[in-house]
Amino acid sequence: MTALAIDNLDISYGDSKVTHGIGFEVAEGESFALVGESGSGKTTVLKAIAGMAKSWTGSISVFGEPRTHGIDRAFARQCQMVFQDPYGSLHPRKTVDATLSEPLTIHGIGNSGERVDEVMQSVGLDRRFRFRFPHQLSGGQRQRVAIARALILKPRMLLLDEPTSALDVSVQAEILNLLKRLRREQGLTYLMVTHNLPVVSFLCDRLAVMRHGRVVEVADVDQLKRGELVDPYSRELTRFSASLPKT
Ligand SMILES: Nc1ncnc2c1ncn2[C@@H]1O[C@H](COP(=O)(O)OP(=O)(O)OP(=O)(O)O)[C@@H](O)[C@H]1O
Ligand SMILES: [Mg+2]
Repeated sequence: MTALAIDNLDISYGDSKVTHGIGFEVAEGESFALVGESGSGKTTVLKAIAGMAKSWTGSISVFGEPRTHGIDRAFARQCQMVFQDPYGSLHPRKTVDATLSEPLTIHGIGNSGERVDEVMQSVGLDRRFRFRFPHQLSGGQRQRVAIARALILKPRMLLLDEPTSALDVSVQAEILNLLKRLRREQGLTYLMVTHNLPVVSFLCDRLAVMRHGRVVEVADVDQLKRGELVDPYSRELTRFSASLPKT
C-alpha cells in the first residue's frame, strides 16, 4: 500500500512560492529521506503534509486519504510529526506524563496510565522520569519524550524533521538506533528530513534530493552508497559529505 503520495505540490508563504511541482511516493513500511540545500523547502513539505502550511496546490494523500488544509483527528491517528528541537517542541510547564496523556484525552482514549507506561518503555525512558518537566531531562531524554508523544496514538507514519541534529553525536546514535528499532517493531513508515547522508544510509531505503523548491532526483540508498547519484547537485552533495571529517 502507498503510505504517502504527493503530486505536483506547490506551497506558498504569502506571495512567495516555496516549492514547485514536488512529487514522490512512499510505500507503507518504507523509510524515505528528504535531503538537500538549506531553504530548499524540506520542512515546508513536512508541514504541508501535517496540515501546518496554509497555502498549497496539488495533491497529498496519506494511506489513500486526500489531505485537507487543516489538522484533523483521523489524520492525527495515522501520522505524527517529530521536530528538530525537542526543547522547543515540548511544553515547558507540562510533565512527561501530562505531555503523553494529553493526546489520549483529546482522542477519548481510556487506559491512559497503562498506555503512557507502555510508550515510555518502548522509547527507553525510565519510569522515574514520568513526572519530570522538560528542563529536568537531558536533550536525548527530551527527544525520547517527543518520539513517545508522536507514538502514543499508535500512528502508522512519522514525519521526522532532523530528529537528531540538535543532539550531541553520541546521543544522536542512540536516537537513530531507537528510530530503527521502533520502525522494525511497529512496522512504521518514515519520511525524514536530514542534512546527514550517513544517517540516510543508516536509516532509509530511498531518498529525494531537493534544491530550490524542486525534487531533482529520487534514488535508492544503494545508489547513494555506491556513489551513483546522477543529478549534478546530488553528486556535489555526496562529494561534500564524503570530504567531511568522520566524527
Ligand atoms: N513561516 C514562513 N513564512 C515565510 N517564509 C517561510 C516560512 N517558513 C519558511 N519560509 C521560507 O521557505 C523556504 C523554505 O524553508 P524550509 O524551512 O522549508 O527549508 P528547509 O529545506 O527545511 O531548510 P533547512 O535545511 O535550513 O531546515 C525558505 O526560503 C524560508 O525562508
Ligand atoms: Mg528545515
